Amino acid sequence: MKGIILAGGEGNRLKPLTEVTNKHLLPIYNQPMIYYPLQTLLKAGVNDILVVSGSKHAGMFLQLLGEGDKFGCTIHYRVQEHAAGIAHALSLTRNFVGNENCAVILGDNIYEDDLSKEIHDFDGKEGAHIFLKELDDANRFGVAELDGDKVLGIEEKPKHPKSNYAVTGLYLYDSDVFDVIAGLNPSRRGEYEITDVNNAYIKKGNLTASVLQKRWTDAGTFESLYRANRIARDLNTFKK
Ligand code: DAU
Repeated sequence: MKGIILAGGEGNRLKPLTEVTNKHLLPIYNQPMIYYPLQTLLKAGVNDILVVSGSKHAGMFLQLLGEGDKFGCTIHYRVQEHAAGIAHALSLTRNFVGNENCAVILGDNIYEDDLSKEIHDFDGKEGAHIFLKELDDANRFGVAELDGDKVLGIEEKPKHPKSNYAVTGLYLYDSDVFDVIAGLNPSRRGEYEITDVNNAYIKKGNLTASVLQKRWTDAGTFESLYRANRIARDLNTFKK
């Protein structure tokens, strides 16, 4: 199973914090933001990892993470020249993933749950798997329409959400994901959307989901950045 951390994008919602540095390098309690998604993958035994970032800050990621030795993994890098969307960033990893399955995590997502079992169990499986979190403000995210534990569809930041279940930023895919992305058109906001990728798997009847029990947040706004710090303080990952 290959691991992918997506750390491109502009971090516009965190300006002026992201005027000079990259969102994923900002401190979350006692560690740089990107350490948390990295830890989620490492805990699950995923130790061959590619980091996608914008060109402006690619050197900083290399400086911070190096080749991965200090984390007991191998880290590779790819540059996404323009922030053309999450699915676009993922498309750049095709050669790295080859015929394997991959665990894709957004560089600003912080999970309190240990997802090792789900990630491990997906190895060698076909289709896609996503992780949902019940939230009061799910409409800030991709929102799943559910029938029991079956996902009927996902809407990106809907005005009138069909449930309280947000789609979080960890996605497990088989290697067909790259053909799925190749068939996508950009959305109205001009991005290749990960929600469109997941809806394509739903159409094929090939997407499963689990629900997170513990806390989860992204860290792309001031409020969520603050929440992320509080979760991270309790997590105390990489404790010396
Ligand atoms: O956090 C979970 C949410 O992430 C999902 O519920 C949404 O369905 C999904 O679209 C995404 O929503 P956001 O609007 O929060 O995504 P954002 O543009 O903030 O990007 C999240 C991360 O994805 C960012 O930290 C780095 C990576 N990214 C994003 C873009 C647009 C890239 O690597 N390249 C990109 O071009």
